Amino acid sequence: MLYQNILLETRDRISTLTINRPDKRNALNQATRDEILNALDVLEKSSDSRILIVTGAGDKAFIAGADISEFEGRTALTQRESMKGRRIFDAIEEFPKPVIAMINGFCLGGGMELALACDIRIASDTAKLGQPEINLGIIPGGGGTQRLTRLVGEGKSMELILTGDLIDAAGAKAIGLVNDVFPTAELQSRVRALAGRMSEKSPIALRMAKEAVKNASRMNLREGLDRETDLFSLTFGSEDKAEGVRAFLEKRKPDFKGR
Ligand code: COA
Repeated sequence: MLYQNILLETRDRISTLTINRPDKRNALNQATRDEILNALDVLEKSSDSRILIVTGAGDKAFIAGADISEFEGRTALTQRESMKGRRIFDAIEEFPKPVIAMINGFCLGGGMELALACDIRIASDTAKLGQPEINLGIIPGGGGTQRLTRLVGEGKSMELILTGDLIDAAGAKAIGLVNDVFPTAELQSRVRALAGRMSEKSPIALRMAKEAVKNASRMNLREGLDRETDLFSLTFGSEDKAEGVRAFLEKRKPDFKGR
């Protein structure tokens, strides 16, 4: 697939998917969503790619939400129809490799929901985040009411969703919405360093760990603990586990092959 709305690059086992519509503040239209889904399929199969960073082109926005121009003329029925099929938010959440949202500016609506579907969120100190759908007479529809609430709790989630107010990067860090905040000039190198540390781990262990942590908000405690036991035991079947244990005992750095 030839991409027109995104850029995709893989270097040193780290892939970067950049939403590339800076003139539209990287708003997500249907074509962009289709390209993101295609890119995720390509990256899932690529053994060169172990970590994914998602970001937005330009210096203003990560993603300013769904492309509002596509909402005009939509009825309840046609909107429902357009939301059938595979969705980017679920695809990112289910993606078997770690995904970092590098939030380099406005992170709004569907952009916030995309960031919420990622595993780790790192923001620049100038970023502004929010769920402003209420200002359009609609509500978040990409998982915001559920994932935001699970991440920051009902009170803060209600405040953001019912007012549509934006929160700055420091405020987002204070409520646990973003993991960390860095000056804009440092954002890229800090995020790459974080991705680099994870890229040296066993891809199998990363995948199992992601699934196990995700289960905490999907299952009750008993089920989650049982599933953790299964996933933990499964890692013992990998060559990477043998390599990790051997490397520790031999006092050297492990070289994980993803097998
Ligand atoms: N959908 C479609 N177009 C969008 C968009 C969106 N979500 N967000 C920004 N754009 C477009 C603007 O229409 C404008 O297009 P134009 O140059 O053809 O007129 C261009 O991007 C630049 O936007 P502008 O508002 O001039 O930039 P800004 O830097 O002053 O403000 C935002 C940036 C993000 C604060 C502002 O664009 C905004 O509030 N966007 C909507 C956010 C939103 O409600 N998202 C939730 C959608 S459900």
